[in-house]
Amino acid sequence: MSRKFYITTPIYYVNARPHIGHAYTTIACDTIARRQRLLGFDTFFLTGTDEHGQKIERAAQAAGKTPQQYADEISSEFRKLWKQMGISNDDFIRTTEERHKKRVQALFRQIRDNGYIYKGTYTGQYCVSDELYVDGAQPGDPCPTCGRITETVHEENYFFKLSAFQDKLLELYANAEFIRPETRRNEVISFVRSGLRDLSISRSTFSWGIPVPDDPKHVIYVWLDALANYVTAIGYGSSHAGAQEAFKKYWPADVHMIGKEIVRFHCVYWPAFLLAAGLALPKTIVAHGWLLFEESKMSKSRGNIVRTETILDVLGADALRYFLLREVVFGQDGSFSFDALVQRYNSDLANGLGNLASRTLTMINRYFKGEVPYPSHAAAKTPADDAIAETARKTIREFATLFDQFQFSRALETAWGLVAAVDKYIVENEPWSLGEKQDDESRARVATVLYTSAEALRIATALAHPVIPDATAKIWEQMGLGDIQKLALADLAWGQLQLGTKLGEVRPVFPRADKSAIERMQQMEDQQRGPAVDEPKPPAQPNATPAPVQPAVASAPAAAADAGKITIDDFAKIELRVGVVKVAERVPKADKLLRLEIDIGTEVRQVLAGIAEAYAPETLIGRKVVIVANLAPRKLRGMESNGMIVAASLDGGKPVLASFLEDVPVGARLK
Ligand code: ME8
Ligand code: MG
Repeated sequence: MSRKFYITTPIYYVNARPHIGHAYTTIACDTIARRQRLLGFDTFFLTGTDEHGQKIERAAQAAGKTPQQYADEISSEFRKLWKQMGISNDDFIRTTEERHKKRVQALFRQIRDNGYIYKGTYTGQYCVSDELYVDGAQPGDPCPTCGRITETVHEENYFFKLSAFQDKLLELYANAEFIRPETRRNEVISFVRSGLRDLSISRSTFSWGIPVPDDPKHVIYVWLDALANYVTAIGYGSSHAGAQEAFKKYWPADVHMIGKEIVRFHCVYWPAFLLAAGLALPKTIVAHGWLLFEESKMSKSRGNIVRTETILDVLGADALRYFLLREVVFGQDGSFSFDALVQRYNSDLANGLGNLASRTLTMINRYFKGEVPYPSHAAAKTPADDAIAETARKTIREFATLFDQFQFSRALETAWGLVAAVDKYIVENEPWSLGEKQDDESRARVATVLYTSAEALRIATALAHPVIPDATAKIWEQMGLGDIQKLALADLAWGQLQLGTKLGEVRPVFPRADKSAIERMQQMEDQQRGPAVDEPKPPAQPNATPAPVQPAVASAPAAAADAGKITIDDFAKIELRVGVVKVAERVPKADKLLRLEIDIGTEVRQVLAGIAEAYAPETLIGRKVVIVANLAPRKLRGMESNGMIVAASLDGGKPVLASFLEDVPVGARLK
């Protein structure tokens, strides 16, 4: 009987179109699922979309759509993208599907019947963006996770007796495998040790959710709804025999893969819900870090996302998969850049594995009529041949160990160590000059060198397959080995390549990318990168800092002596003054914007400035700044902005406020 393996991604919110941050989680899971299948596990890989809750309801409203229309659209984009990328998920669950809704209600009932749900009132702060109750926060306080201002909710709700599970959870965390990596486990332990309060698990002030059984004025808290997908998708709560079988077979999950920002939901709430329902617990919850772009977390609200499609178009899915798993140390944050992507692609894929495949197979074609030669004669062997075989054996073992510990970058490093060793071996043994000779000794020697190279290539290709499925499937066929999906990875060993294997047609799998690839990707993104959805577009935002004199220059008369230059009179039109910040606060739902009140000596001005990502409001109070005092007022987010703060910034970088080394009086003019 085959063993089973069940792995899940988080289900993605449908308020944002998919970007490579989402692709990262999905790729990591897909790679694991593919490896487990090759190892002979009956594997089930689940992903899907998270479609209920206030955040989605509001996003739909803002887009002028019903929540269902809106969810349909974005959910289908995720599904389409995964298809385009060849993601091997076995199911795709949407939380708005009937099967899910009914089964979530069954889970709610089960927990209620077991005595862990009661009715009470909740008054407190809520973060809509994270769909998180923030205990102990006051009205106006920011969310500890995302910094957005929390909203006050006062409702009669259903509560979950989370407090009853503190000890049980701590016992659970004693198992070091339960939460990985260690840093996340420690965070969770200290959070739970500090005490757990009961959790509100229903809302009654909006309706976009699954009704509470027997009390449809309430909808079930979106995190309970969403987390339940891991069991509903495989049949929990269904009355169908087939679904019940599937649930019995696959639950508990072997791996829940998540991003580090949703650890608390998965490692505290989810196990507590499961315990309360009397269900088994997942074996491992693995949290990865964030993909950063331009130094901050890639996310829709920051507007710094990179679309997966761009990379697929220019370099293909394998390039992205390899890059993300090789470059980012799993568990830690990692930066994404097009330069680094192309560099890795060229060095490891085009010049590494790709080149090894094409040179080895081309020589077998040329010197052995396209049939794998065999190292027939003992005299034709050298210690260098054995060293490659030994390296390959060691690579198979180490790769497995590292991979099982989710250390993808180190596992790949090991596999590419084998590629590099074979490259060196080929250079040192010069099969191209041996191949031109006809004497028996040269023939035997070149046969050995090419067999050894091809066998190492086969092993590297087999190991890399779950990570770069397309290219390795092609190499496999070119080697005459047929369908790589049939590979029994558990039995992979040196020496299995058969004498006389007839090669297929040899073609390069990774064409080299040049600088224009970077430019093309950057252009595609620049064209796409509209404004962040939450924030005003930079040109419409007078305080967004780059070159403050530009508007004045643009409207300056063409009387300037040289084209592109302005006269001193033109400059004199711009009234730059020193002001001091009296009040600074965030603007709700606009991540980049601060509302400032600035004293410029003669009056106090309200200015909206796009500097919230660079400056915390409290650090600005009392600070002297330079403002363009005679800029025509304009409205942003319904508020008037009267003037503009001057700051320096590099393209895409954070703004840095202009300031003085000496003390300057408020109201002083810059000229
Ligand atoms: O959290 N870097 O959904 P979500 C790395 N619906 N990973 C990133 C990323 C980035 N810049 N941006 C997003 C939710 N992700 C809930 C989950 S599960 C029951 C409910 C990844 O769409 C990260 O893994 O905000 C995160 O966990 C996942 O996308 C889902 O994000
Ligand atoms: Mg998120």
